[in-house]
Amino acid sequence: MMPMFDPAQYASRRARLIGQMRRGIAVIPTAPEIARNGGTHYPYRFDSHFFYLTGFEEPEAVLVLVAGDAPQAILFCREKNPEREVWDGFRFGPEAAREIFGFDAAYPIAQLDEKLVELMGDQPALFHPVGRDASWDTRLLGLRGRVQEKIRSGIAAPDEIRDVRVALDEMRLIKDDGELATMRRAAATSANAHARAMRATRPGRMEYEIEAELLHEFCTSGARSPAYPSIVAGGSNGCVLHYVGNSAPLKDGDLLLVDAGCEVEGYAADITRTFPVSGKFGAAQREVYEMVLAAQAAAISVARPGARWNDPHDAALRVIAQGLLDLKLCDGSVDGVLESESYKRYYMHRTGHWLGLDVHDVGAYKTGSAWRALQPGMTFTVEPGCYIRAADDVPQALWNIGVRIEDDVAITPGGCEVLTGGAPKTVAAIEELMKPALTT
Ligand code: GLY
Ligand code: MN
Ligand code: MN
Repeated sequence: MMPMFDPAQYASRRARLIGQMRRGIAVIPTAPEIARNGGTHYPYRFDSHFFYLTGFEEPEAVLVLVAGDAPQAILFCREKNPEREVWDGFRFGPEAAREIFGFDAAYPIAQLDEKLVELMGDQPALFHPVGRDASWDTRLLGLRGRVQEKIRSGIAAPDEIRDVRVALDEMRLIKDDGELATMRRAAATSANAHARAMRATRPGRMEYEIEAELLHEFCTSGARSPAYPSIVAGGSNGCVLHYVGNSAPLKDGDLLLVDAGCEVEGYAADITRTFPVSGKFGAAQREVYEMVLAAQAAAISVARPGARWNDPHDAALRVIAQGLLDLKLCDGSVDGVLESESYKRYYMHRTGHWLGLDVHDVGAYKTGSAWRALQPGMTFTVEPGCYIRAADDVPQALWNIGVRIEDDVAITPGGCEVLTGGAPKTVAAIEELMKPALTT
């Protein structure tokens, strides 16, 4: 990550947040390390809000911002420790972190409580991610209590506690050019991984073997990890929305649904492709697939500045409702299917979510009671699907067809840019890619 590191962009984000706070102190901790079992931890991932404001990836770090007449950005982090660094690797230490990452001051994390009691004095408001982590809520309330004890010395404790995410989520919702460039890289690598997965798929392979192909492409193309656990779901598993077992053999005649994206410099891609294990769609599979593809095209076609967040979902739903009528899975009219929500048996999720540092990124979907208007720099997924389980009242030809097609888009001044177009998507493109290699 270091070659792309530009401390000025993080400093300018901190300045913007300080400007929005106007007066008060913000405390924004990074994520904790989570033990897996004796002496081992889950792979570490920093907190996205903390990272957005610092670019600092080490655990045990806290950003403190002071707004008002003398604004300050202060980092608390692990001290240099040659002995621990033999075991755990390099750590910056406060002095180097301050200099390289551009903070006004930096202190050892062990001094956090004492310094916070000083810094909170006479601040009117305490901003932090209220309610996200009960232990931080308790700790900060305790420290505020210690400031209150100084009342006879004429020092006041913050009398307002505010959620810093209200401002931060809105900032993160609109991506700048640097963020968009990073997201394009995550998208391109993820698209290549899907193409690799298609080429590697054949009957008899295990779902987790295809997962390994995805990981191979991620990690040999600039990503360190997936952005979320990959879903590699053959046949009926494709109808389980959050299937992550990835442990079944792939069967001739089944579809394979792959939902996978990598993380690059903290930013996620989120792509789903569905393709035949054999390399050739069956007639019923193809019919459902074309319906979902048309729903996705309809959704993408209305994604532009000024459209409402829900417009792509509504556009996709109309196509799916008509498709379910054509497949005789629903009765009545398109409006009737939408009104009764009978489509929900086969399409039970929404058509997308914000995408960014988090795969389900932050930002409100409504302003007041209205779906929010799309603006350039907003990035989100467009992912209609159709999931048909085996059931007595469903034609057998349609059983276990689970299709989702998911791309990532960025709203541009003139419409939207599909970031993930590199992953084959039409029936013709998929079948062409999956043709067995000619042997000589
Ligand atoms: N991969 C998570 C999602 O599509 O929402
Ligand atoms: Mn998604
Ligand atoms: Mn997905």
